[in-house]
Amino acid sequence: TELANIRNFSIVAHIDHGKSTLADRLIQSTGTVADRDMKEQMLDAMDIERERGITIKANTVRIDYRANDGQDYVLNLIDTPGHVDFAYEVSRSMRAVEGSLLVVDASQGVEAQTLANVYTAIEADHEIVPVLNKIDLPAAEPEQVRAQIEDVIGLDASDAVLISAKSGLGIPDVLEAIVTRLPAPQGDRNAPLKAMLVDSWYDPYLGVVVLIRVMDGVIRKGDNIKMMQTGAKYGIDKLAVLKPAMVDVAELGPGEIGVLTASIKQVRDTKVGDTITHEKKGCETPLPGFKPSVPVVFCGLFPVDSAEFEDLRTAIEKLALNDASFSYEMESSAALGFGFRCGFLGLLHLEVIRDRLEREYGIDLITTAPSVVYHVHMRSGEVQELHNPADLPDLTHVDHIEEPRIKATILVPDDYLGDVLKLCQDRRGIQQELTYAGSRAMVVYDLPLNEVVFDFYDRLKSITKGYASFDYEITGYRQDNLVKMQILVNDEPVDALSMMVHRDRAEGRGRAMCEKLKDLIPRHMFKIPIQAAIGGKVIARETLAALRKDVTAKCYGGDVTRKKKLLEKQKAGKKKMRQFGKVEIPQQAFISALKMD
Ligand code: GTP
Repeated sequence: TELANIRNFSIVAHIDHGKSTLADRLIQSTGTVADRDMKEQMLDAMDIERERGITIKANTVRIDYRANDGQDYVLNLIDTPGHVDFAYEVSRSMRAVEGSLLVVDASQGVEAQTLANVYTAIEADHEIVPVLNKIDLPAAEPEQVRAQIEDVIGLDASDAVLISAKSGLGIPDVLEAIVTRLPAPQGDRNAPLKAMLVDSWYDPYLGVVVLIRVMDGVIRKGDNIKMMQTGAKYGIDKLAVLKPAMVDVAELGPGEIGVLTASIKQVRDTKVGDTITHEKKGCETPLPGFKPSVPVVFCGLFPVDSAEFEDLRTAIEKLALNDASFSYEMESSAALGFGFRCGFLGLLHLEVIRDRLEREYGIDLITTAPSVVYHVHMRSGEVQELHNPADLPDLTHVDHIEEPRIKATILVPDDYLGDVLKLCQDRRGIQQELTYAGSRAMVVYDLPLNEVVFDFYDRLKSITKGYASFDYEITGYRQDNLVKMQILVNDEPVDALSMMVHRDRAEGRGRAMCEKLKDLIPRHMFKIPIQAAIGGKVIARETLAALRKDVTAKCYGGDVTRKKKLLEKQKAGKKKMRQFGKVEIPQQAFISALKMD
């Protein structure tokens, strides 16, 4: 296809503002997918996976469209992950296209992820077409939202397209706006091949499928290619475009977007943002700005039932096949037995993986306290990355410890602003900005990531009744007064409950943990001290009184079978306990103690 007749774009929106619904309408109204094959949320890979039982990551689609000018255009829509955890992937995908549709729900207005995503699009030099969705709703206020886009984002919204993705109203205007207002891609067909690796996924039938955007040159089936960052070399087996089902093509030229397969074994062999060129007569300089995504939040995952360890291993290996950003290694804990230390791009990523392990693979898990990655500066000058508080080196060798900081943007209705400011202050936040976007306040805070990984988002949602939106990016590392807090039960440290905390917050958190554990650990024949300690110093203490729990006490009379049954039940209950020194700690205690209220 001629460059002038190609338009490449993405859709940026806050969650639930109608991105998927709009994509569905664009696909449907152009006849890309026959009506009888049209499923709701065509671009939702998970749905398709569920329905057909195979993986088609159909989040990219090529649409053929005859415009009002009588010419035929190829429109390539690349879907971008919606969440902050995948910020790097979002910014990469955006560099593969020239423009964006900015979808804003006309009844809600601009939200935190609207801002985060639109700024990424602006950074990628996109031409942006504002689209006001859901104008069918009585609560829609398109004029106010138009003004808000201009005030808050600084984007001219006078030509915003008004639509209802649900009813289909305004969809032809969106298609025309894509053709007339977004720029055609540029590129040189005669230059050496230069293509961007935009995304990759594992398909059970085809193996690893790689999504590419050709910048310069032409890529053909059978070509020998190399990945410039990893140095890996492959022969291309298959070249296709996504409509959204794969349709084979012989070649892809400048400006085009498609997929290739090349007997690549695992998704981790492909790095998002890498440059693909020909093995011979390749291009000299790779595309700029490549950086591999690294996990920022770590936690231990242990099976509740230790007999399920092998099942957990198999499940984790399977998940990792399709998710290169998730890391894992075996870990053993005195309290929890064998499990895995896993690294994630962020909290949502952690939750998604944990949910999938529990739901899709049916494994009950104990998740240890999530920890961020600390930089431990040793007296020797060496810097160690700390993923697990249990591995903190002897403090006499440590000079100082640095923690990751984030820039958090929160949009919230005026009424809840006070509570939000208090929450941020309580979490060691430093206010950077406080402005208004219509009737909503926008606050920007500098916060330690450590204070956000526990339960910040849950707290924010509950204090604002779900009306706040939140987004963050990691800004860098800073030194602070950080210590390792240990929990001792009957004078024995329980490694799974160790955590890094700020010195000023240690007492509070230690006390809360001890109080919780006191309620969660059953009484024993002897009294049990439960302590929080920093180094050798105890900072909080509770004592669990001794008691003999006689479960048969309430069995009056001589009903022996009933008595036996109760004793058996008690025995079975014990299996769900972990023997710790002389003390038995129920599994539930680990899960509950780590949840902060
Ligand atoms: P995620 O996929 O969760 O990120 O959300 P999204 O932005 O893709 O939104 P989605 O398309 O799933 O739409 C969210 C909800 O809004 C769905 O219940 C849609 O049916 C509804 N919706 C989308 N467009 C319209 C519209 O024009 N009018 C009305 N009334 N509802 C709409």
